[in-house]
Amino acid sequence: MKRSFSSSQSKCSSGVSDKSYKLLTSVIVLLSLAGCFDSGVVVQGENSVGASESGIDQNGSTNPPANDSPSSDNNSGQNSSPLLSLSQLGERIFSDTNLSSPKGQSCSSCHTPGKGFVDPDVDQPSSLGANGGNFGTRNSSTLFYANQIPEFQIVERPHPLTQIPRDVEFGGFFVDGRARTLKEQAKEPFFNEKEMALPSKRELAIRLESGEYSKEFQARFGQTIFQNPELALDAAASALAAFQNEQKFSPFSSKFDRVKNGDSDFTSAESRGEALFTGRALCSVCHTSPGGAEIFSDFLYHNVGAPRNLTLLNNIGDQSFVDLGLGSKTGNPANNGQFRTPTLRNVAKTAPYMHNGVFKNLREVVEFYNSGAEPPEVPGNNIPPFIGNLFLSETDVNDIVAFLHTLTDK
Ligand code: HEC
Ligand code: HEC
Repeated sequence: MKRSFSSSQSKCSSGVSDKSYKLLTSVIVLLSLAGCFDSGVVVQGENSVGASESGIDQNGSTNPPANDSPSSDNNSGQNSSPLLSLSQLGERIFSDTNLSSPKGQSCSSCHTPGKGFVDPDVDQPSSLGANGGNFGTRNSSTLFYANQIPEFQIVERPHPLTQIPRDVEFGGFFVDGRARTLKEQAKEPFFNEKEMALPSKRELAIRLESGEYSKEFQARFGQTIFQNPELALDAAASALAAFQNEQKFSPFSSKFDRVKNGDSDFTSAESRGEALFTGRALCSVCHTSPGGAEIFSDFLYHNVGAPRNLTLLNNIGDQSFVDLGLGSKTGNPANNGQFRTPTLRNVAKTAPYMHNGVFKNLREVVEFYNSGAEPPEVPGNNIPPFIGNLFLSETDVNDIVAFLHTLTDK
């Protein structure tokens, strides 16, 4: 079903008659190419990789232990110097199924290595929490290339039409940017009642203390670390961030990379797909990174008008649920329906798609961009009107899907 233009008004198109359908589309396409809809070039993002909030080092695998290492503590006994790097410790925590209530779920349950770092249950749009009775409201994000996402910040950008500077949200973690850094993000899932569902930081500290890595944890963060739940959480989050900063989360080893390095060639379908992606299909208006490595995200927030997902609504038992995205973080209605543009690297491995998992495969996603869908979850609100009106042929759609498959790492 085609979405009508009236429900997809954009600031960029105001003043243009609804009725001149084709004309409007070409105007909008031109505006888009001219930088409308936040095509993301102005901002130079900083990686969140080095951001440290606590003084506990979150960078690295081979760094010496933090200052509060117990080598200077009394009673440290044996096992006093860490044998595991911070990132190896993070890896243990990442897959520790004792850190949920009831036990049995870890970060790895919903971000499975070898399965695109997403929930391997592709039949469900969202994930079941540790308590087995609660589905979340969102599709699990891949952790691939999350270490390339800049920390959340407000950046000033000229409005594409008026040139008047305005503030826009950029970077940050979770699809609504509610965590500033990767480390801050890692503090949330333990206590989310639809995820690992631990009742308190104190409980987390107790569980960490009972982990097989607890001596390592103390060797790195101090003998008394488990007596201070706040610091223990901070330490665990540093380790999780260090783990996710490992290169295996951002290997840049796809066919796309080999082609760009001159070590391989696209098939003709893949080449056509790339040309459409960056050209007529307007994907790269949003799916291009501003400087630094190309992970096919501008790190900005957009409302692309994805429809509601009835399966999800059935799962969560609330048919009236609307995911406001960035709007739920900022409280600003203009942000309703906006989500941070996701990376497209390894996208062939991370079905289902969109924040609510409404599309089962890549073809459905491209068909949605091409010819529209059911009414958007958040109608209007600056959905670029070219979305749903790309006039791509069957072959064009297939070629774009072929191109997206070249983004899968080896
Ligand atoms: C029950 C499933 C589940 C568990 C367990 C879980 N996550 Fe997630 N994770 C999700 C979902 C769903 C999202 C997207 C939610 C959102 O954006 O609001 C997400 C988002 C993230 C993101 C943000 C990625 C991005 O692009 O912004 C990171 C990083 C992450 N999780 C890491 C972790 C870590 C570390 C753990 C363990 C401490 C963990 N997750 C446990 C389901 C889970
Ligand atoms: C206006 C900006 C914009 C344009 C143009 C755009 N996208 Fe997106 N794309 C997004 C955003 C934002 C999301 C997340 C939407 C959501 O979760 O509801 C997304 C999601 C996706 C996803 C799902 C990824 C996942 O992990 O769930 C795919 C695949 C995708 N886009 C491909 C494309 C292709 C192919 C094109 C061109 C035909 C395109 N996009 C054009 C911004 C854009």
